[in-house]
Amino acid sequence: MAQQNAADIGLIGLAVMGQNLALNAADHGYSVAVFNRTTSVTDEWIEKIKTHEPSASRIIPTHDLRQLVASLKRPRKVIILVKAGAAVDAVVKQLLEAGIEKDDIVVDCGNSLWTDTIRREKEYASRCKFFGSGVSGGEVGARFGASMMPGGDPASWKHLQSIWEAVAAKVDVKTGKPLEDYAPGKPVQGGVPCTTYLGPDGAGHYVKMIHNGIEYIDMQLICEAYTLLGNLLGLKADELAKVFAHWNEGDLDSYLIQITADILQQHDPKHKNEFLVDYVLDAAGQKGTGKWTGVNALDMGIPANSIAEAVFARCLSALKDERVQASKQLKGPQTQTYSGNRDELINAVRQALYCSKICAYAQGFQLMREAQNEYKWKLNFAQIAAIWRGGCIIRARFLQKITDAYTRDSELVNLLLDPYFNEQISKGQAAWRQVVSLAAVNGIAAPAFMSALAYYDGYRSARLPANLLQAQRDYFGAHTYERTDEPRGHFFHMDWPEAGRPQVLVTKPAK
Ligand code: 6PG
Repeated sequence: MAQQNAADIGLIGLAVMGQNLALNAADHGYSVAVFNRTTSVTDEWIEKIKTHEPSASRIIPTHDLRQLVASLKRPRKVIILVKAGAAVDAVVKQLLEAGIEKDDIVVDCGNSLWTDTIRREKEYASRCKFFGSGVSGGEVGARFGASMMPGGDPASWKHLQSIWEAVAAKVDVKTGKPLEDYAPGKPVQGGVPCTTYLGPDGAGHYVKMIHNGIEYIDMQLICEAYTLLGNLLGLKADELAKVFAHWNEGDLDSYLIQITADILQQHDPKHKNEFLVDYVLDAAGQKGTGKWTGVNALDMGIPANSIAEAVFARCLSALKDERVQASKQLKGPQTQTYSGNRDELINAVRQALYCSKICAYAQGFQLMREAQNEYKWKLNFAQIAAIWRGGCIIRARFLQKITDAYTRDSELVNLLLDPYFNEQISKGQAAWRQVVSLAAVNGIAAPAFMSALAYYDGYRSARLPANLLQAQRDYFGAHTYERTDEPRGHFFHMDWPEAGRPQVLVTKPAK
């Protein structure tokens, strides 16, 4: 029987993330009262961890929500880790019925849509403090240190901060490198925690969504590098594994490159001399956070084209049967084995990947810049990049460069304009263009590399063909246009069907 008012934290939802986060908090000395809707899950898990988890004694099983609520110290702090969507509201309502009170803090740690978090904070304001926090890092991150992205009522954050800092991944103060010397019952000592208060209401979940949009494009870029090298050089999975392992020692050093190298060298359990990756079906799944990022970019009018492209690349891959049929009918060039120097091409693809990655992050940060204006948040971009250095899926050495860029200039309009990133793209762009043309000439789909280059070339163009586009809009819909030789805000229309095509000034800004 759980003791009254004794547990530090409540946690609801004992799927993989919930179990691991509870143990992580317990390793840091917190007592955690846990609840799962199917109570047998709780009991079986408690039985299992008893034998090998040093902190199992700090996990307190409860079988109904009243029991959970009664077991918590005040103000009560309850973490919800259930499927994003209706389940979150259902759990909050059950918690309210079970005795949660106005000053108690209910934290949604799932991948919730930030607008839901904004709505929930308001909706429950008179009955509890609803708080949102992104959590990244999968199973291992939840267990030994995640990147935690909290947003909500600042007063509630005061009660959560020490817990969040405890369960977060830690990075070395000087180098920013993740500290990964941990074991059950022996969490990392010292280091800077990968968490910081991001802002009110939906700020945490918004930043987590952008993290995921970037995760999508990071993964897609790696996949394109893999397919280009595989097709143009005829490299097998284990040879590609070596390429990625080598890249992981340089600027591209990141969790996703590291796991790619590991995946590629894995033999298939059924066909011992072959590689698992060659037997994995090429139809990508997705749960929606990348899509939300793309939709949000469209809603706000921010050109995050590469992030959206990464979502579409998954959608296209998912049309497996259709693609198989189309491959029999639609012709393209025969891929030619690259006749130049192998190492030079590998290096060119590495540079293309790095340049594209810079553009993708520029897009993600541009989205956050816009969102903060829309929602009146004050996001600290240097800190956001810093809390992504450890624990999360996009953790990478590269993020330190973003922190440096925003530390140099917190108002930086676009990452591409930072001297470091500008120089990297100057150095890498010839190779990047070569790789994109090789992809086009050889008929290899590389939408992320291509869209990132299109973003770069578009962003650096003082003049785009939108002049013609505006004229077309005016022609068929009288949508008006501004002129290069008149002040901005003066809109003209040409009466196209009329003889002589007179032009009139339709609107101008009020004085
Ligand atoms: C993380 C991940 C995680 C996400 C998975 C699956 O930061 O730990 O972003 O939250 O759910 O990566 O996402 P998809 O199924 O959409 O690929």
